[in-house]
Amino acid sequence: MTKLSVNINKFATLRNARGGNLPDIIQVARDCERFGADGITVHPRPDERHIRYQDVRDLKPIVTTEFNIEGYPSQDFMDLVLEVKPHQCTLVPDPPGVITSNTGWDTIQHQSFLKDVIGTLKKAGIRVSIFLNPEIDKVAGAKSAGADRIELYTGPYAEEYTKARTQPQNFRLFNDYKNTAKEASAAGLELNAGHDLNLDNLRFFKLHIPQLKEVSIGHALVCDAIYMGLENTIQLYKRQLQD
Ligand code: PXP
Repeated sequence: MTKLSVNINKFATLRNARGGNLPDIIQVARDCERFGADGITVHPRPDERHIRYQDVRDLKPIVTTEFNIEGYPSQDFMDLVLEVKPHQCTLVPDPPGVITSNTGWDTIQHQSFLKDVIGTLKKAGIRVSIFLNPEIDKVAGAKSAGADRIELYTGPYAEEYTKARTQPQNFRLFNDYKNTAKEASAAGLELNAGHDLNLDNLRFFKLHIPQLKEVSIGHALVCDAIYMGLENTIQLYKRQLQD
């Protein structure tokens, strides 16, 4: 079964819209776990517009499943991750002002930077995953930089999936995902995926990418929870991830 890590950033966005502490992020994380989440993901950004650095510190002692911190490895981010020591750190190449992650690493161009950063995290006992586009030629760079896993950026998959239902010939892109996943396995890298996954497109991805260890899902899951409730929604996502 593929693990579901719930990205709780959107709950922090809602809290920050009003000031105060509603919804309470700590309670949200506890409840996600109680409702079946296999992990909690946070993505602190430099402007702290959703998850704040202090939230990450506060979450560490209460998360009982897998704690995943994702973000661009700036000095501040690295200091936080090394202090909190999550189970996994997912490195994304986001520039500071971007609305959401929108591409994977160029592991060839940034090889020596990634090697340094990954080496530092691994020395602290933290598993490292790096965000990658479905580009087979970037896999070797992820491996030689020392990553344990790659997280496939599924934004383009989600977009194509919606179109492909009426135009299956447009779904050639999915071969890039399958081939990148195979290449990663052959290189001894484990596989995560995330971005724009939802109740509609998740099952197809899971069924055709058997190597999939974990997905991290935030936006769509929180939107579904508005209508169906958090417990029911988490259970529905988990059902899509069954073997
Ligand atoms: N993975 C990464 C690296 C991300 O940056 C995000 C968004 O913060 C996600 C997964 C989750 O994407 P979504 O909110 O679309 O489910």
